Amino acid sequence: MEKLIINGPTRLVGDVTISGAKNAAVAIIPATLLIDGTCTLENVPNISDVKISISILEKLGVKIKWIGPNTVHIDTTNISSSRAPLDMTSKFRASYYMLGALLGRLGNAEVGLPGGCNLGARPIDQHIKGFEALGAKVNVSQGKVLAEASSLVGTSIYLDTVSVGATINVMLAAVLADGTTTIDNAAKEPHVVDVANFLNTMGADIHGAGTDMIKINGVKSLKGGATYSVVPDQIEAGTFMLAAVASKGDITIHNCVPEHLDCLTAKIEEIGGHVEINGDSIHVWCDSRPSKAIIKTQPYPGFPTDLQPQMGVVLSVADGTSIINEGIWESRFQYTAELNKMGANITAQGKSAVFEGTDFLSGAPVYASDLRAGAALIIAGIIANGETQLYNLQHIDRGYENIEAKFRNLGADITRVTE
Ligand code: EPZ
Repeated sequence: MEKLIINGPTRLVGDVTISGAKNAAVAIIPATLLIDGTCTLENVPNISDVKISISILEKLGVKIKWIGPNTVHIDTTNISSSRAPLDMTSKFRASYYMLGALLGRLGNAEVGLPGGCNLGARPIDQHIKGFEALGAKVNVSQGKVLAEASSLVGTSIYLDTVSVGATINVMLAAVLADGTTTIDNAAKEPHVVDVANFLNTMGADIHGAGTDMIKINGVKSLKGGATYSVVPDQIEAGTFMLAAVASKGDITIHNCVPEHLDCLTAKIEEIGGHVEINGDSIHVWCDSRPSKAIIKTQPYPGFPTDLQPQMGVVLSVADGTSIINEGIWESRFQYTAELNKMGANITAQGKSAVFEGTDFLSGAPVYASDLRAGAALIIAGIIANGETQLYNLQHIDRGYENIEAKFRNLGADITRVTE
């Protein structure tokens, strides 16, 4: 078993470069299934969720070659199967994108129910509603989703919930459908826009991504043949912004899209941190104890749920009493029990938590319950007095490339050891 040993406290100072976005890459890789040809993807994060997505495509007959540390060449001319292996799809959430992509390209798909972080109930009813509206028959049984259609025909779809996954999945299924599809109440996250940009680069005709109404004019085929660079990871950039504030440090974050983080920038300034934007870099520093805040997580452009635990660490040592209301997931406060082991004073109940700011945290053995909880606990270990041992690293490795090396470059005393 691997663990991270972190000795703190450290004030983080220096520069860090952000990788490609996990949540864009894990959608774009399945989206390549729609191409009758090849494509090259750049800025692909080398993380375990990406590696599993690629392995699944290989099992479907796709030819894939890494041609650089973050560049992959994909040939989807021939697809030999529409059945994604169940043991692989159950390992991560984004395997649900295989459904929309295989349905769109081949007219049928069999994919295991998706796994991923345990954040409470994670239904896919809106994905299924979209596929059915396009004319597919969908059956969920024995842990599998089976979808098939003799033809997919464009239509108007209203999503009952703003869902990143359903928006992208319906977009995938509609790209090669006959006629025009509209998705109303669509998610507006940067990775939704990135998937649409990727598909358009390969020959699709999608308009309005980034607004709540997306229009997809079906095309006969995607020829591919192009190179596409995955958008920088908004959540990784936000993680380092919050690490700068929590450690009262000074970090310049390169290769990011600052406007994707407007909402976090505003909150950081509200609690006493400083943010300076220069092109695709964000300079964040904080020279005093952050002050209390009230946070509510919401779909983009609201405060992202995927930065809620990292913000929770900042508020656990802020001056005063803070409140976080989680607006997306039922169960995203599991990290607060771990922070309390480190001396925090947090009361979480349902989808709300109250943070009584303490002067400092102390190192302790703690367990990552999910990906972002893991990132938050790394930050907590860095600012805490003494040694923190962090377990369950498989969650962190799903979504952050070289995370301990990046923190080490900023001065953190952090080592991965195998027990
Ligand atoms: C994506 O999950 C991200 N994952 C999550 O990131 C992120 O937390 C989430 O969006 C919200 O931003 C990927 O992109 C792979 P949703 P997704 O569908 O698409 C409800 C991380 O840490 N809902 O936008 O699965 C759902 O229960 C991860 O990187 C339905 O009711 O989330 C939730 O309350 C964790 N029916 C809300 O909508 C559906 O059919 C938003 O979920 C679909 C969703």
